[in-house]
Amino acid sequence: MTAELDMNRIPQHIAIIMDGNGRWATDRGLDRTFGHKAGLDTVKDITAKCSRLGVKYLTLYTFSTENWNRPAYEIEALMGLVLSFLEMELFTENNIRFRLIGDIERLPESVQKKIHYMENLTKDNDGMTMVVAMSYSSKWEITHAIQQIATDVKEGRMMASDITEETLDKYLCTNFMPDPDLLIRTGGELRISNYLLWQIAYTELYFCDTYWPDFDEEALYKAIASFQSRQRRFGKTEAQVEAEGQNEK
Ligand code: IPE
Ligand code: IPE
Ligand code: MG
Repeated sequence: MTAELDMNRIPQHIAIIMDGNGRWATDRGLDRTFGHKAGLDTVKDITAKCSRLGVKYLTLYTFSTENWNRPAYEIEALMGLVLSFLEMELFTENNIRFRLIGDIERLPESVQKKIHYMENLTKDNDGMTMVVAMSYSSKWEITHAIQQIATDVKEGRMMASDITEETLDKYLCTNFMPDPDLLIRTGGELRISNYLLWQIAYTELYFCDTYWPDFDEEALYKAIASFQSRQRRFGKTEAQVEAEGQNEK
């Protein structure tokens, strides 16, 4: 049964750690790359569903900095799948803006080119923004931001004493979107694996055992229903939040 959702409380930003492709394939006696292929169908499906639900930002962890340590053939297969994904009409059909976050310079040139092309092609789409995190890790991102801040201080564009939380927000590659409301990790692992560490300070976390290729509409609805059953207090008391009339269950 699909969970009933409160359409007035759809999370504005959902981030997903799409895990379990390899195990999904291995369980079927297939090579891991078949799991990534099946995972791509889920990406298409879940992106279209989120867009229809009115989610404004969907941030998908697609390839981490640490994933560069995987066997070369698996990396190659993944890059090929990303290229084919970027060809899709998914973006134009659903009025979706595409953005990439991560250390783009480490990606193959063909992928870099396609990314720039798609970012430009979809820049005026004003439906959902789909953010693909590739060659991304939070520690890379924060280190990179601090290097830029240090340079700006050294060259006199900013005073060290002027640095605030908002400054760091501005220097991170996620500076064009709000922090995630809901983070979903599929595949059963209870960890964050270097994803959006700064941005998820107050995000609601949801873990499920389902492998990413099996994550369907029902699983998505279940995750959102779990989000909607929670009261976000941001450090305040339950009574305070209720008095403010926000976050009604
Ligand atoms: C997630 O699935 C996709 C990537 C990390 C590229 P995995 O490939 O990690 O699948 P498992 O965790 O080995 O099952
Ligand atoms: C996290 O999955 C990265 C992506 C989903 C892209 P991993 O499978 O790489 O994470 P760990 O190594 O199990 O923590
Ligand atoms: Mg994994």
